[in-house]
This record gives sequence, structure tokens and C-alpha cells, in this order.
Amino acid sequence: MSRKPRFIFWNSSKAQNARTAHIKKFWFHGDIFRSVFFDALSLTIPYAEDFITKISADALPHTSGHPQRDAQLLLEEETAHAHVHRAYNEMLRSEGYRTESYERLVPLWTSFVMRHFSLGNQFAVAAAVEHLTACLGVVGLDYAVLDIGVDARMRRVWMWHLIEEVHHRHACFNLARFFGARYYMRASALIAMTIIFILIHTYTMAGLLWQSGHLFDYSVWREGVRFACGKNGAYKIIIPFFSYFKPNFHPNEIPIRSVVSEHIHQYHIESELLSYFK
Ligand SMILES: [Fe+2]
Ligand SMILES: [Fe+2]
Repeated sequence: MSRKPRFIFWNSSKAQNARTAHIKKFWFHGDIFRSVFFDALSLTIPYAEDFITKISADALPHTSGHPQRDAQLLLEEETAHAHVHRAYNEMLRSEGYRTESYERLVPLWTSFVMRHFSLGNQFAVAAAVEHLTACLGVVGLDYAVLDIGVDARMRRVWMWHLIEEVHHRHACFNLARFFGARYYMRASALIAMTIIFILIHTYTMAGLLWQSGHLFDYSVWREGVRFACGKNGAYKIIIPFFSYFKPNFHPNEIPIRSVVSEHIHQYHIESELLSYFK
């Protein structure tokens, strides 16, 4: 089946024109499930990014050449992501969401990993997180999940983040190998991180849906089933996800359409994105 490139995000005029209006609470063309799915992701992102930037900074004095460039790339891109998503999450609080109980979940496991794991194994855990975000990025971009009817500003925020996740998908993996993390550690870290991600994300989504009065709304869950299993649904993540367990796997093997790779390296628009949440 041929998949036509349908990217229009490079043209920022729609986002610029929309700047004066408030971002709606259910910004994903009124779809409550999809809006809350992404909002719940945003609430955990700054804390996961803090973990990756912390261990990347720890790696810098012990690296040179390619591994050092990987650590610098992670530092630069994940710092910007954390910054933009903190502003995004401030917007969620201004919409009336109480977010503290969800935001403290990621630091519970990152502080445990940073206290008890070697730097190599910390990167194995980070590589697992990065594999999940790269799979989300590849599927989200490849199947144009954010293309139709989504608030232009939120679309740019998420496209920017997904593109950069795809861009640096190799970095933590390379650093995990550089610092000696073995296959069994990388594979078990992915199993553990997937379970933790599902638990935290489900809890956060359920909480946001409860607070907005939609937890028991049948139509919201019907959309959720479509999002997961419908045409171009999230189930497509399964193939890139499981490729991680091949002993000789490398993240750069995950195929990316040329239209995505063309835009990589050209999307440094952090200050514009921050202005959407003011
Ligand atoms: Fe990120
Ligand atoms: Fe990342």
C-alpha cells in the first residue's frame, strides 16, 4: 500500500493566524479521547526529559567523538522539549486540571534508576523510553495522525517533538552500548518501561477524563477504540516496537519516509512554540 506524504506542518501561517485565539481544551478537532491522550503524555514528558538530560550531562566528561555528540544532541533537544511541555502543562492547569498527582509518578522510577544503576544501565532504561517515543513518532508521522483538523499550534508542538524524537532515536541506544549495557539489560528495560508507561499513562488519562467529566462517556471510549484499532490506528506501533528485541537491532533500522527525514534538522522553533501557551 502506498502512503502519500501529507505534511503541511512546515507552513506555519495557520499557527501564526491562530495565535490570538485560546487553544481549546479539546484541541484535537473536539475529540476528547485524542486530546486527553496527548495531554496526559505531556504531563509526564518534562520529568522523563529531565532524566535523559541529567544522564547525558553525566556522560559528557567520559565521552568524546560520536558518543559525546550523541550526549550533546540529547541535552540540546530534550532540554527544549522539557521547556515547551512545562509551558503546555501550565496551560492544562489553567484549564482547571489538577496535575500534581500525575506529575510525581515519573520521578519515582527515574530517581530509583539514577540511585541504583550504573551509567550504562541508566542509558539502557533511557534507550527503552526513547524507543517508545521513536515508535510513537514514526507511526504518528508516517500515518499523519495529527494532520486533519487539529489546532495548528498544537499540531506544530507535537510534530516538532515527534520529529526530534525520530531524529535522535539512536542516541541513548548508542550511549547504552558505549557504557557497556548488555542485550538482556536493554531488552528487560524495554519490557519494564513499557509496563510502567502503560500504567502511568492510563492512570493519568483516566484522571484527566474524570476531572473533565468524561470518564464514563461511551462516545469517548468508542473514539478510543478507533484511535487504537481503527484505520491507521495506534496498533501500528507493534511492528517497530518488537524489532527492539532482535539481538542485532539498531534504532536507525526503523524505516522513516523520506518526507520526514527531509524536515529533520530544520525545526528549531522553540520560542515560537512557547508563545502559544502565554
Ligand atoms: Fe523529547
Ligand atoms: Fe528523546
